[in-house]
Amino acid sequence: MTEIEWWEYDDADELAEAIAGDVQFVIESAIDARGSAVIALAGGKTPLPAYEKLAKAKLDWKRVTIVPTDERIVPLGDPLSNVTALGRTFIPKGARVIPVVPKAVPDYKAAGRSADALLGDLHWPLDLCLLGVGGDGHTASIFPGPDLDEALNGPKERRALGVMPDPLPPEAPVARVSLSRQGIVTARALMIAVTGKEKRKVIEDAIKEGAGSPYPIGRVLAEVELPVDIHWAA
Ligand code: 6PG
Repeated sequence: MTEIEWWEYDDADELAEAIAGDVQFVIESAIDARGSAVIALAGGKTPLPAYEKLAKAKLDWKRVTIVPTDERIVPLGDPLSNVTALGRTFIPKGARVIPVVPKAVPDYKAAGRSADALLGDLHWPLDLCLLGVGGDGHTASIFPGPDLDEALNGPKERRALGVMPDPLPPEAPVARVSLSRQGIVTARALMIAVTGKEKRKVIEDAIKEGAGSPYPIGRVLAEVELPVDIHWAA
């Protein structure tokens, strides 16, 4: 049974403070233990205030590699790109932020294979995976659609894959590269950053439903060995 811990905060600023502090702690522990840290950070808007605070942390950033939990397949610099948003918000001196979408790819599946190979070259498993959750229960870019089963039940060594959501999400109607379930749940630390009562209900229902949940987050978190920390503000 997955061990889930909810951490509740009075407002978005307290949430951001707590997330930044926890991520800093994970990075420091990884550097102490292994000399470096590789962390996957969620796209979307919720974690951005935490990234702004984290960027001010006194850390040995040159030992830190940051990848997005998922990326939209758009050119770098496109407003839809998570790495571009991350780079604008979170520019710690010396850290490596790795775009996982190669420049020219024939199709989204090829982009996924390229990201999978790139992630394999990093010291794996991730030291941290910080996820967001959408109102439809997606996480990273694990969406309902033709690639959902592969994202959830693909080969155990599959870290990332190309995903074509169906239906396309209105806020970013493009194909994506995403961490697979395996890439997420093998992280040494797993955190979720989420706000609002509606999303809290989606996650609570999804966790109850587990592997049979219609919500991807429920299927990602089913039978996860790691404790999962969910940081939430109303
Ligand atoms: C993306 C994200 C996605 C995000 C959720 C929540 O590329 O869209 O990685 O999984 O975390 O959609 O987004 P908000 O935090 O903006 O609600």
